[in-house]
Amino acid sequence: MTADATYLQSPFGSVQLQRYPTRRQERLRAWCSADELLLDALSGLAVPGKQVLVANDEHGALTVSVNPRALWTDSALAATAVRRNLAANHKAPVPVVWSTSALPGEPPACVVLRIPKQLPYFEYQLAHLSGNLPAGATVLAAGMDKHLSPRTASLLEQYIGPTQRHRGRRKARLFQSVRDAGIAAPPAPDMCCYFCDELQAQLCAMPNVFSREKLDAGSRLLLQQLALLPPVERLVDLACGNGVLGLAAFKMQMVGKVLCCDESAMAVASAQYNAQQLFPNEFEHFEFLHGDGLLDYRGTAAQMVLCNPPFHSQHTVDEYVGRRLLAQCSEHLSAGGSLCLVANRHLDYQATLRRGFDRVEKLAGDSKFTVWLAHRNARE
Ligand SMILES: C[S@@+](CC[C@H](N)C(=O)[O-])C[C@H]1O[C@@H](n2cnc3c(N)ncnc32)[C@H](O)[C@@H]1O
Repeated sequence: MTADATYLQSPFGSVQLQRYPTRRQERLRAWCSADELLLDALSGLAVPGKQVLVANDEHGALTVSVNPRALWTDSALAATAVRRNLAANHKAPVPVVWSTSALPGEPPACVVLRIPKQLPYFEYQLAHLSGNLPAGATVLAAGMDKHLSPRTASLLEQYIGPTQRHRGRRKARLFQSVRDAGIAAPPAPDMCCYFCDELQAQLCAMPNVFSREKLDAGSRLLLQQLALLPPVERLVDLACGNGVLGLAAFKMQMVGKVLCCDESAMAVASAQYNAQQLFPNEFEHFEFLHGDGLLDYRGTAAQMVLCNPPFHSQHTVDEYVGRRLLAQCSEHLSAGGSLCLVANRHLDYQATLRRGFDRVEKLAGDSKFTVWLAHRNARE
């Protein structure tokens, strides 16, 4: 582990933690005071780690300290951070249960949960827990004040049972609920769908997916430029969300095969669902990848990548996550290949593109977004 690893002290001892994706001279810590509140509260309950389920750990503060039965997460980046930090602390791997899978095995006595940013996803997790937890089980949930909804406590009451709202500490707050099996919890929020005019089709997405209720304005501007792009054999929808960009390219017959990839398990599952619904007879032309961009992809290189890049890393606003993906693209594209990217006007992606590509042109722009087309030379 590099010098950027920092030490978290808690009642469970001291663990060294590093954020993932890693970068030189990292200024952000790999944990926050919501993690510290959860660890303090859990140590007071004295529940053995093997009876604990950790949910939505970001970089491993909870999992590495507690050594729980399993980590429940939507995020491939978080799973990587946790795996690396467990190894750095000489701890055995902890099984990962993806957000899209049912909770396996014997129910936990305690759930230690970082409250996610997306409220429907929080409800989804609470609904699944309400069907899984035995009476008397504890749910410890915490988040940073700036990310919490005024509905947090009432949702815990509705789905789990009596809930105590603890005093805040260092801009974070802890909630403690006890499962009341007599409560008939509301059903889990399901797929959310909208009709996408550009695709002339309905697009659906699971609760933790970007822009699940309507088309993102940046994605719309990129879709309006698709007709300007040359047809290709292979295309990547990088950071695909519900798959809208790759599905539109396929519908316009500008591509033979589409790879949709995202770090969110729910995004990949939603893109897969939409491809199956829209193109049931051509589904074999689609491939799906849940992971950190194209980092682990070993398949055939593509001639075109479409991307509306992320600007958040977990709860943190961070352009670096997008820049990193763009750097991966130039390595994955075949010679002569291109990246078509939409980005907020105020983000200076042009400099990043010029470093990784041979030619960069502006395809379109409006008051908020710019669409860039970056090319690799046909011969290196
Ligand atoms: C701005 S959204 C775009 C979604 C979709 N393409 C659209 O246009 O609606 C960015 C997406 O990037 C994904 N993401 C963030 N970091 C990633 C990474 N390292 N690898 C793959 N996907 C990532 C997020 O889960 C999110 O779905």
